[in-house]
Order: sequence, then C-alpha cells, then structure tokens
Amino acid sequence: MITKPRGTADIILGDVFKWRHIEGIFRQLCQEYNYHEVRTPIFEYTELFERGVGDTTDIVEKEMYTFLDRGGRSITLRPEGTASVVRAYLDNKLSSGLQPVKLWYYGPMFRYDRPQAGRFRQFHQLGAEVIGSEDPATDAELIAMLMSFYARLGLSNLRLDINSVGCPICRAELKIKLQDFFRPHMDRLCHHCQGRIDRNPLRILDCKVEACKTIGKDAPTTLDCLCRDCEDHFIKVKDHLNQINIPYNINGRMVRGLDYYTKTAFEIAAPEIGAQSAIGGGGRYDGLVESIGGNSTPGVGYALGVERILLAMENQKIAIPEEPALDVFIASADEQGSSMAFSLLETIRNKGISGDKDYLGRSLKSQMKHAGKTGCSLVVILGGQELSRGVAAVKDMRDGRQIELSVDKISEEIIKILGK
Ligand code: HAM
Repeated sequence: MITKPRGTADIILGDVFKWRHIEGIFRQLCQEYNYHEVRTPIFEYTELFERGVGDTTDIVEKEMYTFLDRGGRSITLRPEGTASVVRAYLDNKLSSGLQPVKLWYYGPMFRYDRPQAGRFRQFHQLGAEVIGSEDPATDAELIAMLMSFYARLGLSNLRLDINSVGCPICRAELKIKLQDFFRPHMDRLCHHCQGRIDRNPLRILDCKVEACKTIGKDAPTTLDCLCRDCEDHFIKVKDHLNQINIPYNINGRMVRGLDYYTKTAFEIAAPEIGAQSAIGGGGRYDGLVESIGGNSTPGVGYALGVERILLAMENQKIAIPEEPALDVFIASADEQGSSMAFSLLETIRNKGISGDKDYLGRSLKSQMKHAGKTGCSLVVILGGQELSRGVAAVKDMRDGRQIELSVDKISEEIIKILGK
C-alpha cells in the first residue's frame, strides 16, 4: 500500500464542496473589491524566494522543497505566493497597465515543516496583492476585505493584530538595538539565531524555538524605532480602520516570517484552533519589486490558509452548505429499460438536469435502494409492463407520490416536476 506523503491531505467527496464554498465566497469578494485573478507556476527558480522571502527566514533556511531539475537549475516548489505574483507582474510588464495592479490567487503552497494540527507540508492559500500604491488606504482596504471574508463565512471571535515593521531606515536603528539586546544571550539562542544576530536580528523575534522565544520577550520592538514617514503611514492605516469600525490589537512584537515586509504587518488568529492559530496574514512590501529586479514599486497584500479556515469553521460549528443532491435516478427493470435510460439521461443532462443510472447490473429492488441513498428527487423506472404500454413509473422521493408519465414526453415532464 502506498500512502500519501506526510503533511499532505486528500480532499475527497463532500469535503470538496466545502472547499468550493470557501473559494466561491472569496472569488465573489475579489470581484466586489476589483481584484483580478492571476495563476502562476507551482515551481519557480530558487533564487526568487532566496531574494524575495529572504535567506535568513525559517522558510528559506529550513522549509523549502528545493531540487535540481534535469538541466541542473535549482528549482523550488513555491512556499508562498507573493514573490511569484511580483515576478509575474515584472515578467508580464503589468506596470504599463492600469495602476495600481490588484491581483488575487489561489493554490497549493509547500513548506517542509513538522506536520501538526493546522500545519501541513502542502497547504492552500487564497491571497490578494496590490502593487503600485503606497496609499495607507490600500493596506486598510486589504484588511477590511480579509475581515469581510471571515465574516461572510460566519467566523467570529477572531483577533486582528497589526504592527509596523518600519523601513530600511528605521530597521538600521532597530538592528543595532536588537544586536545589543541579544548578544549577552548568544549562548542560549538556537544555532540559526546565533547566525542571525549579525545578519538579521529581527528574525530572532520570529523563531519558533522556545529558548529564543523566551529571550525575545523583552527585546525592543519595531515600534520603538519608527521613522517619521513610517510612523505617519501607521497612523493613517489605523485611522482608516477606525473609520470603518474594524477593531484591532497593536502588537509591536509581531514581525511575521518573511523578510520582505516594510511598514504595515498584520495577522488574524482564531485562538481556539490551537497552536497554529494564524488563519491569515500579510503586510506591505515596498522593497520587494526592486529586490526581484524591477523599479522601486510599493506593494501590499495578504494570504490565508484554507485548511485553517476549515478547522476554525468546524470548531465554531458553522454549517457549510451541502452539495446539491442528484435530480433524477433512472432505474431499469430489464435490458431494454437500461438502454433507454442511457439515452434519456443524455437528453435531460443537456437540459441542465443531473441524472444517473445503474452500471452494475443490479436488481430493480437494489437499484431503488441505491437511488434512495443518492438523495435524488425523482426516480424514473423504465422497463417491464409499463414500458410496453409506452409509460414510465416516476416516484417523487420528496413526498413519496408515484405517477405514470408517457415515455414520449418524459424529459419535458421531468423538467416541469423539478421546477427547473
Ligand atoms: P504566511 O503568514 O506565511 O504569509 O502565510 C499565510 C497563511 O497561510 C497563514 O496565516 C496560514 O493560515 C497559512 N499557512 C502558512 N503555513 C501553513 C502551513 N504549513 N500549513 C497550513 N497553513 C499554513 C504568506 O505566505 C505571505 N505570502 C502573505 C502575504 C501576501 N504577504 C503579503 N502578501
């Protein structure tokens, strides 16, 4: 028996409908907020993530699925969507179209992390990005869109944390403060963080190792070092959120796990789903386009994890609409009936009615039992005596009534009965 790889999941049968429900609500939201869908490759050149996400992040240091292709190029399965979207923005010269460029995406992402509840090695993100505007209103629009999405799904009791992680100017001051703070604790930090003190001490604040977390609790925060411009931007983001009554927590310790962030960073948690409670997060990345090779262009966006949303919905006992049941099952008493069922199904399906029949040569009795289990609205019985009289028996499973219909007009009659 070959099983699925650790940290992956099969999405099967009724579960697929739950996923489609979530995707459908997101799609609708994106249309209302005027975001356009973009589909990028699942793998990219490794360099994109090294430069984009940052080579001192956990993602790049420990979690990427990287391999050499047959041409000897280093390839990585995308661990996130933003770097790819920005690469596509540059590759396709979207900077010469309508500005700002508002894009959304959906798809599997890959991170080699230790699997646990809510943490997978292949997981799915829905995300949105605005490239080309530094207006703090775009940061607030994205947060508002994300909060509307959760509300439309019926989720409540969520915590929105916001922060400003500053820009390279404030970061230079913060770097010195953090180095001064962490150096005396060097011996107790994990070996990754020991290397990060010189290169990127901000990353220590995002380390998952318990000892690093404990030491980091009293470290200076990004808010201690904001420059005038970043401070002003943060005030305006908060003003916009206040204007539309979105409650938030200011959390100066939230730095997020990706290096491209500048100014605004935000994260939404559903505390009751456990240790992996972040159901979405994002922020501004005004240096990313340039670091991937474009002209200096601001950007901001978010992504949310579909698996964690489902977990939160389950936890909050939110009913998810069921897949619509089958309209018609055609049972047949003999071979002539079975053959007729085959062509009748084609006719009704092409008129928008869903239909199915038996393909296992079952008795009429067990076909009826099977029909009941499908949850169908009507069972049409073809064959035997009725068929020789030019009629079919039709049982309405919703009220148990049984009638006879002329075979010649049966498809029109079925449509009428179903009210389609
Ligand atoms: P992220 O915080 O790394 O941000 O991931 C976004 C969301 O993806 C998380 O809040 C979580 O719901 C989900 N997620 C992350 N890792 C896993 C995992 N191993 N298993 C299940 N779900 C997971 C980003 O990826 C950024 N690209 C977001 C962004 C867009 N920032 C700006 N634009």
